[in-house]
Amino acid sequence: MVKEKRIALLPGDGIGPEVVAEGVKVLKAIEQKDKNLSFTFEQFPWGCEYYLQNGKMMDDDGLSQLQHFDAIYLGAVGYPGVPDHVSLRDLLLKIRKGFDQYVNLRPVKLLNERLSPLKGKAAKDIDLLVVRENSEGEYSGEGNWLYKGEPEEVVLQTGVFSRKGTERIIRYAFEEARRQGKSLTSVSKANALNYSMVFWDSVFEEVKRDYPDVETASYLVDAASMFLVMNPERFDIVVTSNLFGDILTDLGAAIAGGLGLATGANVNPERTYPSMFEPVHGSAPDIAGKGIANPLAAIWSVAQMMDHFGEEEWGRKIVSTIQQIMDEDEKLTPDFGGEATTAEVGDRFIKLLTS
Ligand code: NAI
Ligand code: MG
Repeated sequence: MVKEKRIALLPGDGIGPEVVAEGVKVLKAIEQKDKNLSFTFEQFPWGCEYYLQNGKMMDDDGLSQLQHFDAIYLGAVGYPGVPDHVSLRDLLLKIRKGFDQYVNLRPVKLLNERLSPLKGKAAKDIDLLVVRENSEGEYSGEGNWLYKGEPEEVVLQTGVFSRKGTERIIRYAFEEARRQGKSLTSVSKANALNYSMVFWDSVFEEVKRDYPDVETASYLVDAASMFLVMNPERFDIVVTSNLFGDILTDLGAAIAGGLGLATGANVNPERTYPSMFEPVHGSAPDIAGKGIANPLAAIWSVAQMMDHFGEEEWGRKIVSTIQQIMDEDEKLTPDFGGEATTAEVGDRFIKLLTS
């Protein structure tokens, strides 16, 4: 039976549409090659340009328009002229929150040794998956600003760690570790954060009892940062809070080839709502419209989408093709020292993927 998947395209701003176009080419090539898969696309114009014309980042009923898709494929959102907190909050965070995409999956995988700033680290040393809590924690937006501008000024920013939110992300990570037959590392900071992270650690210990087959480690976030640079081979699957995950995955991107290769999936594991797949980079206004944006991070997002559809074979194939293309220096975009355009990389990629 043919698997039919409906994909909502949100190309967004700047280089977003340029890199999403290449990802769509890859999806169409997969559809051609695999008679059991069929994709339909619908594109949405939401983003900063839309905001400047309509005074809002997306339609008022935007979430219900997106609700029935199998996946959302996002480019990047944000552009000079619209404050970043508006573009981020009113579109991306609205989707992540509204669709309960509480898992943020960010692979950190070195595909080519020359890409890492770390001395003497081989591809096998840097291969981890960060499972970041994506719905609460330090990014809950709770707090207060008292006596603004007065000498008594006080600012409170509250971290919110619910039992439900903490347990479900840790359980998800244990399941993933078990599925992959890999170890799980929890990253927290209980010595300093005497409520939230003591709670996090205790939930981790509690859930661990259900997974005696999974090898575990637990690090403080400062030590984990050091280990990520000194001994990245220590890590397989990593589970951590919203803020720590945000910071650790930027560090992860840095040791594995930079923004040109970093991807992230915002997942609603229950599949009540669609999940969203996006490159980690932004809209890169400095190179937008020049046709030189690197499409490989956006293409890696397609691999994560395939995994989510249960098409892991294609997921693996996309990642190994990225690995293959990384060996051909001159055929890469300028950020990786090549001379190719965005579309040329996409075309070359499809040739390698389908040959
Ligand atoms: P950025 O990621 O857009 O750019 C940082 C630097 O990396 C720039 O020099 C850019 O040219 C380069 N770069 C990024 N992606 C690239 C690619 N695919 N190929 C080649 N070079 C690439 O981050 P920046 O400049 O801080 O933000 C620009 C806008 O993007 C802002 O409005 C920001 O809010 C938004 N943004 C959106 C994100 C999202 O949609 N998830 C994430 C990060 C930023
Ligand atoms: Mg970030």
